[in-house]
Amino acid sequence: TWTTTNVVEEQIALIREQVGTKRAICGLSGGVDSAVAAALVQKAIGSQLTCVYVDHGLMRKGETEQVEKDFVAATGVQLKVVDAEERFLTALAGVSDPEQKRKIIGREFIRVFEQAQAELVAEAGAAGEDVAFLVQGTLYPDVVESGGGTGTANIKSHHNVGGLPDDIEFQLVEPLRQLFKDEVRMVGQELGLPEEIVQRQPFPGPGLGIRIVGEVTKERLDLLREADAIAREELTAAGLDRDIWQCPVVLLADVRSVGVQGDGRTYGHPIVLRPVSSEDAMTADWSRLPYETLARISTRITNEVADVNRVVLDVTSKPPGTIEWE
Ligand code: XMP
Repeated sequence: TWTTTNVVEEQIALIREQVGTKRAICGLSGGVDSAVAAALVQKAIGSQLTCVYVDHGLMRKGETEQVEKDFVAATGVQLKVVDAEERFLTALAGVSDPEQKRKIIGREFIRVFEQAQAELVAEAGAAGEDVAFLVQGTLYPDVVESGGGTGTANIKSHHNVGGLPDDIEFQLVEPLRQLFKDEVRMVGQELGLPEEIVQRQPFPGPGLGIRIVGEVTKERLDLLREADAIAREELTAAGLDRDIWQCPVVLLADVRSVGVQGDGRTYGHPIVLRPVSSEDAMTADWSRLPYETLARISTRITNEVADVNRVVLDVTSKPPGTIEWE
């Protein structure tokens, strides 16, 4: 019979058998899948696993701390955090085009991650150990979509770190390959992961970088982080987290409108709320949120976030609109 306890025990045995005495690396994104995969592998092989978290500076408020503190506390995993905020912001300077932003973020991410990987391989090499495995949070729907194949990931290291071979070949460890998303959440719960990680709604890899319409700057990111945190807080307080698929909060950085606040005229930016309901993100409908909740979010954002004087609601389904604005 299928129980999370059985799944966990079975996977732990399989991981131990696959990895043996070698070492493994796992990239953490802050998302559910990589967190649960890492927690499972940690349970199976302990200190033979090292996790890498690339902080690109595009995360929401508190999310990096969640990985650095709460996830580590819950699992005891060895974590290497790479602070790459400046690097990402420099690469994104002056860029407003959505596709170009995505490409830059993707490219920088791979470079930083590969560099961290190469450093770990080099460090382990000195200790005579073999880093042979890469852990990935591949789910069953991903396996089906890609035709079921897999095996090795051929990762090219473009950054030569002290005499390493150009190609580092890893075997993949994919302990979630037979699971659906809801099952992954149950396994995460069984492994004692924090609720905020296990129940986390989808969040795009390029992060807040694609939720700022216009150029991405530190100031704009900080502003959006505040607005987003308020929206999340109020949705949670209203008990609506399970009713919506996700709620992107978007800053229209290139738009200004006139407002009146306190002593007089303002000329600030609008924030867009994009709450959606969906089954699989392929199609979506805009969520009919209670007016009281929308009112609270609007009042708080315009009162508490400097330079924002308007909150608007996106009432477009997908299609024609995508969930994210970029
Ligand atoms: P769209 O905007 O295409 O989004 O309707 C569909 C779902 O995918 C998420 N999304 C991403 N997830 N990397 C990700 O891991 C990405 O680059 C990315 N772009 C969009 C989005 O949040 C929504 O859940």
